[in-house]
Amino acid sequence: MNIPDSATAQTIQRQLLNWFEKNQRDLPWRKHYQPYAVWISEVMLQQTQVKTVLPYYERWMAGFPDIRSLAEAPEDAVLKHWEGLGYYSRARNIQRTARILMLEFHGEVPRIYRALRDLPGIGPYTAAAILSLAFNQDYPVVDGNVKRVFARLFDIGSPLSERRSLRFIEETARALLPGGKARAFNQALMELGAVVCTP
Ligand code: ADE
Repeated sequence: MNIPDSATAQTIQRQLLNWFEKNQRDLPWRKHYQPYAVWISEVMLQQTQVKTVLPYYERWMAGFPDIRSLAEAPEDAVLKHWEGLGYYSRARNIQRTARILMLEFHGEVPRIYRALRDLPGIGPYTAAAILSLAFNQDYPVVDGNVKRVFARLFDIGSPLSERRSLRFIEETARALLPGGKARAFNQALMELGAVVCTP
């Protein structure tokens, strides 16, 4: 398993970005890339498909349009909005984080990796997704979609559960990331995995 050379990397970057520009789905969290919207949508999308998430996302944003309203809401109202999505700890952690953001971050989503990782419910994937999609910072993301796309594109022979497969995927995601275009590139990879390169 070899990291692609720079000519190959450039071809992949160009083709993916072109494809995404023409073919991306029109999704509500892609309108403005507000940090709050990116955060909520990315947590909802963990273990859940876009078409299931959409109505939940719309109800959530109607009920809690910003971080303050979420922080101030009663917990049972928050859980009610999550009902049916499963893994309720995700909803509890979102509200705990909203309260911390109000108390310690002027009600804003931080733009620093370490600060994000210290918040409840924000792991390596979610932190990288927020930094790249909301703030266009050069952080690669590796979710199930990205793993599948790379496994096929680079014909990875070893099972994806193996440490060395994951290492290769993480290194390749970093090597392929075009500087200054993380928002589009990361979503292009995930979108390709979600709509074309499906399980
Ligand atoms: N799955 C999780 N996050 C996604 C995103 N930002 N775009 C497409 N599919 C996703």
